Amino acid sequence: MEVAWNTRYNTGIEIVDEQHQELFQVVNRLRELVQEGADRGVIGTLLEDLVACSERHFATEEAFMAKVAYPDLPQHVAEHASMLTSLHELLGKFRESHWAMALMVPTFMEGWLKHHISDGDFGFVTFLKARNLV
Ligand SMILES: [Fe+2]
Ligand SMILES: [Fe+2]
Repeated sequence: MEVAWNTRYNTGIEIVDEQHQELFQVVNRLRELVQEGADRGVIGTLLEDLVACSERHFATEEAFMAKVAYPDLPQHVAEHASMLTSLHELLGKFRESHWAMALMVPTFMEGWLKHHISDGDFGFVTFLKARNLV
């Protein structure tokens, strides 16, 4: 089942929206590959891409938040860091031959992305709008 992008996830910040869509695309591709029973190496590479995309996206958001002195930045950084810790744990278990871990990543990512964008990222958008910064 595809993790559908929905316009309600649009923040109105172009680079953030592009990166969120990219994350959803990588998660969808990963789900397809796992369901097709794709080669372990191919799935491992895509898991690494997912980590890289996530890190890039978090760095973009955090730099923007720091630039405008967003007061909830520490909490937001902690949420990003916690997600990366979980993703690295899943990737580590996958590498230790726990094949089923690859199945868990799309479900974990889907839940995390939907919750974090709707709650954490939109909190930042509200802050920007209140100050006419977006
Ligand atoms: Fe975020
Ligand atoms: Fe985000």
